Amino acid sequence: MSKPRILVTRRWPAAVESILAERFDATFNLDDRAMDEAALGEALASHDAVLPTVSDRLPSALFDRSDIRTRILGNFGVGYNHIDVRAASARGIVVTNTPGVLTECTADLAVTLLLSVARRAGEGERQLRAGEWKGWCPTHMIGTKVTGKTLGIVGFGRIGKAMAKRCHFGFDMDVVFYNRSRIDPSEAARYGARQLDTIEDVMATADFVSLHCPGGEENRNLINAERLALMKPSAFLINTARGDVVDETALISALRSETIRGAGLDVYAGEPNVPAALRQMENVAILPHLGSATEETRTAMGMRVVENITAYFEGREPQDRVG
Ligand code: DGY
Repeated sequence: MSKPRILVTRRWPAAVESILAERFDATFNLDDRAMDEAALGEALASHDAVLPTVSDRLPSALFDRSDIRTRILGNFGVGYNHIDVRAASARGIVVTNTPGVLTECTADLAVTLLLSVARRAGEGERQLRAGEWKGWCPTHMIGTKVTGKTLGIVGFGRIGKAMAKRCHFGFDMDVVFYNRSRIDPSEAARYGARQLDTIEDVMATADFVSLHCPGGEENRNLINAERLALMKPSAFLINTARGDVVDETALISALRSETIRGAGLDVYAGEPNVPAALRQMENVAILPHLGSATEETRTAMGMRVVENITAYFEGREPQDRVG
């Protein structure tokens, strides 16, 4: 029997690519350039599986073509707001993601941003590298103490819980959170956290607000001008979720008008474009979407896709089906 034809839209860790090449008739994107919609449409017409990631856009129009061959989209990543899952499902295409394996590394990166912006680490490094440091003095580059402060989490899923655990048990932080569904208080207590009723309550209470909810239509601009205005002027916003969860224009105004003290960002609405204002502000720590970027996690993500599509082509239910 011939092997299923699969297309991998970007380069993946070598160990995963070699397993894909053994098990499937695999096409790799050797140039590692993001594919445009026309190329993705062609891939849907010519492959049994397409393995996309966050840099690909698969809107509903892509699924309109009559010659679709693809039966499964094995997404490399937990977030899948770049895929119109409803349109894919309407064409009978199964969609899977990679939950669980990037929880720890993404929470680690949220802590990195939190510490970095509070303690002005990026600013300090830029000063030093530019040869502008004049030496130690009691008033030099004074930041904000993290230990003992209040962390507010929006979205208490796996990554939100991992963030709570790190900040409560590592930094003695009081942790509050908003989550759409109720979390059993005893479960929340395992992470040193307690649930508040509204996002507004979290925004107003926290010294650091960290976002861990999904992106996409349901949460677009969830953090808007009104909600930013509820934050303490001394507070910081951390986003390792998705760029579209934050109204970037409102965030820039809040930072400019000192409605909030600073922000730590790993994700942006129009990636890879980052508004110049955010790149220029010293009170913003910015990273290029590195949440899951460790050797261990990227390999685990790839292996999770291998498991999902292998299950599908062997007639089993893929463990991470989202559509
Ligand atoms: C994820 O898994 O969602 C990461 O942000 C990379 O896409």
